[in-house]
Formats: sequence, C-alpha cells, structure tokens
Amino acid sequence: MSALFQPYHLKDITLRNRIAVPPMCQYMANDGLVNEWHLSHYAGMARGGAALVIVEATAVSPEGRITPGCTGIWSDALAQGFAPIVKEIKQAGAVPGIQIGHAGRKASANRPWEGDDHIAEGDPRGWETIAPSAIAFGGGLGKVPRAMTLDDIARVRQDFVNAAVRAREVGFEWLELHFAHGYLGQSFFSFHSNQRDDIYGGSLENRSRFLLETLKAVREVWPEHLPLTIRFGVIEFDGRDEETLLESIGLVRQFKDAGMDMISVSMGFTIPDATIPWGPAFMGPIAERVRNEAGVPVSSAWGFGTPAIAEQVVKDEQLDVVMVGKAHLANPHWAYFAAKELGLPRASWTMPAPYAHWLERY
Ligand SMILES: Cc1cc2nc3c(=O)[nH]c(=O)nc-3n(C[C@H](O)[C@H](O)[C@H](O)COP(=O)(O)O)c2cc1C
Repeated sequence: MSALFQPYHLKDITLRNRIAVPPMCQYMANDGLVNEWHLSHYAGMARGGAALVIVEATAVSPEGRITPGCTGIWSDALAQGFAPIVKEIKQAGAVPGIQIGHAGRKASANRPWEGDDHIAEGDPRGWETIAPSAIAFGGGLGKVPRAMTLDDIARVRQDFVNAAVRAREVGFEWLELHFAHGYLGQSFFSFHSNQRDDIYGGSLENRSRFLLETLKAVREVWPEHLPLTIRFGVIEFDGRDEETLLESIGLVRQFKDAGMDMISVSMGFTIPDATIPWGPAFMGPIAERVRNEAGVPVSSAWGFGTPAIAEQVVKDEQLDVVMVGKAHLANPHWAYFAAKELGLPRASWTMPAPYAHWLERY
C-alpha cells in the first residue's frame, strides 16, 4: 500500500493522491495575461496524474510581477484568462490552485534565461519597486526599492483581497499566498530586509503584521470550505537558523489561528549569500518540525522528485502533500511514472483513457 497514492482531504477538497505541482513561473505572459503556453502547460501537468496543480506566482498588481513575463490577476479580464486553464485542470481530475503574490524589491527583473537580474535603470520595460525598507536585495538584484508608506501597505493588502475574490470567481479551489522567497511578504518578516521603525517593523510582532493582516483580510473573502495555504520561508540559512525557525513556527501557529489550512514550508531567500544545504529531501526534517510544533498540515518542495523519496516522506509523516517541481517539467506524467516505479496496481494509475488504454495493455 502506497502512502503517496492515498487520497488527502482538506476542507471540502479531496486530492486523489499526495502529489502536487508547485507554483512554477513560466515568464511567458504578456502584460500579465496567460495564453496558449500556460493552457497546454497546466493541462499537461494535470493529465499527468498530479492531484493538485498550483498555477505560478501570479501578481496582485502590475508592480508585483517578478518579470514582465509574469502572470497577473489585478483585473477581471486577466482573471478570466485563467478560465480555460481551470477547466482543463478539473477535467483531468486534479484540483486547480493558484499562488498570488507580490515580488516587492525583487520585482522588475529580467527573465531567468535573460539574466535574472534587475532590468536596467532607464529601460522602459522596468518599473519602480516597493518594499518595507529602501534596502536592495544585492547581487544582480541591486535596485533600491522605495520604502512603502502606510497607504502602500493598505493598498497591497487590498490587492491581495481583490486577487483572491477574482481567483475564486474564475473557479480556483485552492489559494496560496506567496510569503516566501524574498518577495514582499517574506521581506516584511525578515529583519534583513525590514528595518522600519513603525508598526510594521522592529519587533517580531510588527514584522509579522503585514502577513497576518493580509491573511485575515483574504480569509474574509476566500470561502471557508476551500483550502487557504501559505508558502513561507521558515529558514534563511544565514547562520541564525534556530532563532529564525522558532520565530517562524510561532508565526505559523498564528497563521493557523487566523484560518490558514496548510503551510508550504520553504526557504526565505532574503539574502544573496545564504549557505543552503542542497540535497535530496533536505527540507523534509524542517517541514516535519513545523508540522509537529505548529500542529498544521504541511507540504514542501525541493528535492522530493524521486518516487521512493516522495513515498518515504509521506510514510514517515514528514509531509502531508509532496510538491514535485522540476521533475514535472522533465516529465508531466510524473505521477504515472511514480505509480509504476512503486509497483502500484495498474488500476491506480491516473492516466486519461487515450494514454491509459495503451500503457496498461502493452
Ligand atoms: C521554473 C521555476 C519556476 C518557479 N516559480 C515559482 C513560483 O512561481 N512560486 C514559488 O513559490 N516557487 C517557484 N519555484 C520553486 C518551485 O515551486 C519549487 O520549490 C522548486 O522547483 C523546488 O522543487 P523541485 O526540487 O521539485 O524542483 C519555481 C521553480 C522553478 C524551477
């Protein structure tokens, strides 16, 4: 009996197994609008058998995009662009999710394969970036952001709320707030990037305020019966990891009390020179600790894309849901491949009939 292929229930949603496609930016949108690329990409992932397909980090406002090619959901017209994607994901038996976010000081960047750095000053493709404090990330992302006013903070919080409403209206059933990876939410939490001296900076309580307020405001509009999750960097790998983890776990408990249903445990990426211990499943023990100490369901990514590893972390109760990213880019039918590798009976292979008919027979 496979642990990875057991269904999972969260609120009114049932995942057919524990395999999810995490949000992965495609950098292929035009002015925030999705197109045929996104439709075939996401439909392919869903047909491949994953239980949950989370659409890439989608900006709540134009200045919240990472690159000019990032998807957006700051208007009804942009939201409607997702309708065929939602339909195809559901048609394939998967749950359609979306991650909404704001890139903060990491916005206005070139696509990864075009430099992964900030768009040069004066280039009309770029825009002003905003962040808790006027502190640049560093490295290739050296642009100094404008420190947000209280009005900016209130406006971005409302942008998240509007984005959540639109995501629901177009049919998404799983919403993830992107508070990880050095983008806006994470940069409010980290003292590396937040040196404000008002109620949004300084103490742990103040650094947590933007994230908690945004969660609470979104929870008001996102249906109670559908999962609301947060991707959050609980660790920076900056040499003070135990302290950050303890602070993070405390905040995750508050997220839970404010209505978050699952945490996607990730890294902070707030500083360019973190010493990250890359390796297979290296986030597993960290996710497990968050799961146990905060008492919340967890998912995580980073190096779980081998069937035996994915199976083991669910069996060991480190993760409730396993995010398999790059392995899905290499093989959209990763879930089928995993079921076969793990020796599951053919009846449990989640393949559409035009594929299954042949694969099960020969
Ligand atoms: C092309 C690409 C785009 C990504 N975009 C996002 C994103 O939009 N939001 C996010 O939270 N993480 C993003 N990530 C990180 C992935 O969600 C995932 O954490 C990462 O790929 C590690 O998992 P893996 O080892 O299974 O690939 C991206 C990763 C890749 C490879």
